[in-house]
Amino acid sequence: MTTETETMMPMRTGEIRIHKPEDFEGMRRAGRLVAECLDMLVEEVKPGVTTGHIDDLVRHFVLDHGAQSATIGYRGYRHASCISLNHVICHGIPGDRVFKEGDIANIDVTVIVDSWHGDHSRMFAAGRPKRKAERLMDLTYEAMMAGINAVRPGAFFGDIGGAISEVARKNRLSVVEDFCGHGLGRMFHDEPNVVHSARAGTGPVLREGMFFTIEPMLNLGRKDAAILKDGWTAVTRDRQLSAQFEHSVGVTADGVEIFTTSPKGLHTPHRC
Ligand code: MF3
Ligand code: CO
Ligand code: CO
Repeated sequence: MTTETETMMPMRTGEIRIHKPEDFEGMRRAGRLVAECLDMLVEEVKPGVTTGHIDDLVRHFVLDHGAQSATIGYRGYRHASCISLNHVICHGIPGDRVFKEGDIANIDVTVIVDSWHGDHSRMFAAGRPKRKAERLMDLTYEAMMAGINAVRPGAFFGDIGGAISEVARKNRLSVVEDFCGHGLGRMFHDEPNVVHSARAGTGPVLREGMFFTIEPMLNLGRKDAAILKDGWTAVTRDRQLSAQFEHSVGVTADGVEIFTTSPKGLHTPHRC
């Protein structure tokens, strides 16, 4: 079944879309708004607040700025954010769970501004994270940035996964294979799948005007995931910690543009 939001969007064609120079401006506006939204949350995530309260703040922020949430109504999802705590890999559902001292959480928000999607997530900590949690978050950020730095016209999509896997391997972390980054633009999830565990030199060639996300999930233990009975929440099978960061990016004439850079420099909130 197609959701209301999806019927207003172009269909997946099987090809990787090439966007025009003026389309970058649309992505910049969507990317900036979602980055401002996560900046706003840095002061709000703390012991004692519920994940549902954080989701309320996100929903109001998005609507107050004249934008739409891309996740409300998406395949039956009902929230403006995914909040994935500790051993949750991704797609954690906000609700009554109260943040406790030392919890870590990925908060993932996707907005639509004038039909363009901004998809972005960061790791947050309630109070002071444990050392091994902090290390996992730092290395996951480093892995995402290594993937982004592999982006330039003429390189391969597999170079992104190659760079991410290398950071993970060197630090004895695993890369989740069950969830990928994705093309985006006027569509939320478009071609191609951006495989975070791919090998360098494989996959499609990167071309100027391609827009996609890079959103690696790294685990302290094994890579294997399971989905809980709610149909959404993805957890590590071994219940060890997982972390994720996500940026929306575009391929430029000579490299990459990150659309979701934090205006306040709060890109690693667990260090703020
Ligand atoms: N924002 C997620 C992504 O990075 C998708 C969330 S879909 C939802 O692609 F329905 F779970 F919100
Ligand atoms: Co995404
Ligand atoms: Co996302």
